Amino acid sequence: MVVAKGAYYTDADGRQIFDGLSGLWTCGAGHGREEITRAVSAQIAEMDYSPGFQFGHALSFQLANKIVDLTPDGLDHVFFTDSGSETIDTALKIARAYWRSRGHTGKSKFIGRMKGYHGANYGGVGVGGIGFNRKLFGQTVDADHIAHTLLEENRFSKGMPESGFRALLMVFIRLSIVLLSQLALAACGLGAAGVRPTISLYCDNFLVYKMCARDMDRDGIVEFVYFEESEVVFMWREGARDDIPADMEIHQCAEAMPSELVATTNRVFFVDDETSYLERQDIRGGMMIEYITALPRVAACNLGSDQSRGESHG
Ligand SMILES: Cc1ncc(COP(=O)(O)O)c(C=O)c1O
Repeated sequence: MVVAKGAYYTDADGRQIFDGLSGLWTCGAGHGREEITRAVSAQIAEMDYSPGFQFGHALSFQLANKIVDLTPDGLDHVFFTDSGSETIDTALKIARAYWRSRGHTGKSKFIGRMKGYHGANYGGVGVGGIGFNRKLFGQTVDADHIAHTLLEENRFSKGMPESGFRALLMVFIRLSIVLLSQLALAACGLGAAGVRPTISLYCDNFLVYKMCARDMDRDGIVEFVYFEESEVVFMWREGARDDIPADMEIHQCAEAMPSELVATTNRVFFVDDETSYLERQDIRGGMMIEYITALPRVAACNLGSDQSRGESHG
C-alpha cells in the first residue's frame, strides 16, 4: 500500500482497495483525516517525545481521565500501551502481580482458548491458542487452552450464534475430568525411581488405548503421540517426524497433528509421584479432549485394514 484516504488504500499499482478492517481497527475515523494530521503535527512541533520513566505528560492524564469517564464504574485506572501485543503482555503481568500481591504466588496459570489470537509478544503467543505462533519458541507462559467457539455452522451468524454446544460440552468435559475423575493415571517409562528422564512424557490410560505423548527436547511441545504397549505412533507434530526413534512403529493411518492439537498438548510435564492429583487431571484433560476425536479415526483405520485383509483371504 502506498496511499490511504478515507476508507480506501491505494497500492503500488494504483489499485483502490477498500479497507474493511479500518487499518486493523486503528483508523476507525478514516484514513488521512486533515484535523487528525493537524493535531498530530502541532503536537510534534510542541513536544515530540518525553520519557515515560519518572515523567508524565499533561495530555496523557487528560486522556486517561476522559477514558475513565467513558468506562463503567470501577474501571478507573488506565495504562497506556503501544500495541495490542504489548497490551496483552501487560495484562498478563497485571494479573500475576494481583495474585502475588495477595500472597497467592502459586496462581500463575493462564487459561486461553484454542485458536485465540493475542498478538505476537512473549506472553501473547503462550496464552493464544495458535500452536504455529510458538512453534519456534516452545511454550512461553504457563497456559492451558479450552475449546474455541469458531464453529463452521456459526459462520455469518447475526447476533448470538445458535450452536455452540460442542464447545460448551468440551469445557464441561474438561471441568468434569478435573473435578470428578477417579480413574487411574499412569506415568510410563519413567525409569528408575527418582531419575528424571531426558525426555518429557505423559501417559494416559483413560481411553481404551493407553496413549503416551513425548516431548523429546523438553521444550514443552509434544513431538509425537503413541500407544504405550505397542509403541505405535499415531500422530506427530508437523516437522517432527524425524524425531520419532527408529525402533518405534508408525501406524499406517498416522497423521500430522492439527495445529489446535499442538496448542492443546503444549504442556507435557514430567509426571512423577510428586505431581499433584489436580495437576495430573488437568494435564490429562487438556490432551484428552482432542485425542478423543483422533482415536476413532485410528480405530476405523484398523478395522478397515482388518476387513480388507479378511476379504482378500476369503
Ligand atoms: C485480541 C488481540 N490481541 C492482541 C492483538 C495484537 O495487536 P497488535 O497487532 O497491535 O500487536 C490483536 C490484533 O489483532 C488482537 O486481536
